[in-house]
Amino acid sequence: MKRIAVLTSGGDAAGMNAAIRAVVRTGIHLGLEVMGVQCGYAGLIAGNWRPLSARDVGGILPVGGTMLGSSRCLEFTTEQGPRAAIAQLEQAKIDGLLVIGGNGSQTGAFALSQLGFPVVGVASTIDNDLYGSDITIGVDTALNIALESIDRLRSTATAHHRAFLVEVMGRNCGYLALMSAIAGGAEAVCLPEYEIDPEQLAAELADAYDRGKSHAIVVVAEGASLNATGLMQHFQEHRERLGFDVRATILGHVQRGGNPGAFDRILASRLGAAATEEIASGNHGLLVGLIENQITITPLPDVVANEKSIDPRLYALAQILAK
Ligand code: F6P
Repeated sequence: MKRIAVLTSGGDAAGMNAAIRAVVRTGIHLGLEVMGVQCGYAGLIAGNWRPLSARDVGGILPVGGTMLGSSRCLEFTTEQGPRAAIAQLEQAKIDGLLVIGGNGSQTGAFALSQLGFPVVGVASTIDNDLYGSDITIGVDTALNIALESIDRLRSTATAHHRAFLVEVMGRNCGYLALMSAIAGGAEAVCLPEYEIDPEQLAAELADAYDRGKSHAIVVVAEGASLNATGLMQHFQEHRERLGFDVRATILGHVQRGGNPGAFDRILASRLGAAATEEIASGNHGLLVGLIENQITITPLPDVVANEKSIDPRLYALAQILAK
């Protein structure tokens, strides 16, 4: 293995730059040439890459986003996409590829690997829905951003005795919402993993006021069966009967912005370095993640075949602590 390439794909996550830096500097340390692919799989198909030196990745460690750019590339999901990418890689004499990204990105990595190209994945998505890593790059920073917003909303909620719906990202996974609810002391949490009855939720909020609370914060996962917009509509229609005012805040992409915290910088540095060591040693077709605080490799077929579920005990905990 002489020359490898690295790309970031799918939704950006704070810490991706730290992972790129780790790949480049570990690669150079191991005697490899490292190419940076622009804009994820779209850049791979187009052969859009350039060599990266240790200095090229200087100063990116504390910066959010990804210096390589990212994309959601539909063409790569076709049969032709991965074949076109491999043709480009082989022509440029690139021997291996590191893919920093989440579920969709690792599905792409698996497709390349099935065609015989050496690929190693680095677990990175704010959704924390990727099998093969207890926690992925970007989750902790996104969680802290949600938390700051919840803390700010609580003071205005208290001032007006209002209920606030705070919608957080996470696609079809409730992890970010659940952890935001526990860390933010929310009165209720709505997750995609559990059915939502707006009347039962309203009763829980009314009960919170009856117990002497001066506000009610509800963290709603964007993938919940009723999101913040749906719940808001229901609560507004029944405003008189419910007896409390509701406002909704959708955090959206704010959660993907900003600089990575210490946890994500360290996690990304460890995973990026470990993935580079794996591919340099000739190990591929796998994802590098963190399980029980140890760097762990999981075969890509297992990664794409399995789903990661949230811990029901944490859901129960959120409800007990909301009292
Ligand atoms: O997968 C990361 C994520 O931010 C999800 O939480 C969200 O549903 C999605 O990406 C948004 O995608 P896009 O940035 O393409 O709108």
